[in-house]
Amino acid sequence: MALKITVIGTGYLGATHAAAMAELGFEVLGLDVVPDKIEMLQRGEVPMYEPGLEELLRKHVAGIEGASGRLRFTMDPAEAADFGDVHFICVNTPQKHGEYACDMSYVDSALESLAKHLTRPALVVGKSTVPVGSADRLAARLTELAPAGDQVELAWNPEFLREGFAVKDTLHPDRIVVGVRSEHAERVLREVYATPIAEGSPFVVTDFPTSELVKTSANSFLATKISFINAMAEVCEAAGGDVVKLAEALGHDDRIGKKFLRAGIGFGGGCLPKDIRAFMARAGELGADQALTFLREIDSINMRRRGQMVEMAREALGGGPFLGKRVAVLGATFKPDSDDVRDSPALNVAGQIHLQGGQVTVYDPKGMANARRIFPTLGYADTAMEAVRGADVVLHLTEWREFRELDPAELASVATTPLILDGRNALDPEAWRAAGWTYRAMGRPTA
Ligand code: UGA
Repeated sequence: MALKITVIGTGYLGATHAAAMAELGFEVLGLDVVPDKIEMLQRGEVPMYEPGLEELLRKHVAGIEGASGRLRFTMDPAEAADFGDVHFICVNTPQKHGEYACDMSYVDSALESLAKHLTRPALVVGKSTVPVGSADRLAARLTELAPAGDQVELAWNPEFLREGFAVKDTLHPDRIVVGVRSEHAERVLREVYATPIAEGSPFVVTDFPTSELVKTSANSFLATKISFINAMAEVCEAAGGDVVKLAEALGHDDRIGKKFLRAGIGFGGGCLPKDIRAFMARAGELGADQALTFLREIDSINMRRRGQMVEMAREALGGGPFLGKRVAVLGATFKPDSDDVRDSPALNVAGQIHLQGGQVTVYDPKGMANARRIFPTLGYADTAMEAVRGADVVLHLTEWREFRELDPAELASVATTPLILDGRNALDPEAWRAAGWTYRAMGRPTA
């Protein structure tokens, strides 16, 4: 009989994982504690913007016309425990308030509320990003709480999906990593991922700590790559170099590669910043803090970028205070193709200028509602054109395709001063200059 799967936590990770499991042919039950989320998902609606996810969900949610019916949702952990052979824990692990460490309370309570009801054999699989050592602790807790005792087992299976590509990354992962303690657990997970394995996704089997570390070290490596090129951008600013050309030339060395070498205002979002901090905190607890002190530098290079963008805007406006200056900000989300504004460098820059007296107007293709919620005092416009109308300077802070497709000549006709600062090194300088703009980008003083 085909395995039955539950997915606990239906945010970014969980909603995508649940829909993908249904797409792979399994019967799936999603569990969450937030009634609004469950009601939306039951209607086939996704509580965030993620390309392709709503379509995939509507293809499978029971009760939607023409859907396979393989995907259902509930708020009852007992129902989930009764239903599933494999339970995926997909809740989030945000940074703790006032600390570097991550908050494990959602993972702990997801595991505990499920475990109490597990009266039959099951495999519980953690997908959340957790500090190394958590799986070991949670495995003991699981056996202690589950009525089925050692018939219930834990495995760890980190998730590497990127926002904006979540569906593709889940259905066609570039690798599947499983931390297991038995051949049985490995066999079950090979069955779950039989389709991507058959397509060629590498399947890497490890112990618990290694599987947890793969995730945090992967994100640390990516953060390091971005901060490396941003450090080079700082040197280029001082030396009169061009960081975009530099990255292009470096990228031709395939040991380095050209991906994740886009200099600009740096990384944000719900993962990279909090993951490197939680990793440092955990290394400290383990007595290995020296090994990760470099991540402190990665973090500060990254956070410095935001302030440097603000200073670049101030200089471009003549060097004085922002008071009375009209600043258009294109982009609010932490990256394009997402509505996520968590720790967004774009909003941070917009906020800093606003708090220094600038009149900031923000436009973003998908992030307006979320941006308004966390930064209600900023000005917002319904289109890029409206944001730019009357502006003394335009800041390009999230590299949406929509912004690359704007007509610089049309925008020049509504701006007070045709002055654009590219915080993502993504616009075509020639096209903007040809339309009369003064174009300046980060790490490219002469380009
Ligand atoms: C990241 C990882 O890329 C995923 O593999 C991982 O699964 C995920 O975190 C997670 O832990 O859940 P994501 O947060 O969606 O994914 O975003 P990225 O695509 O990694 O981008 C992160 C930030 O870096 C964005 O703000 C982006 O604008 C910035 N970035 C990226 C740069 O500034 N330069 C680059 O060259 C690339």
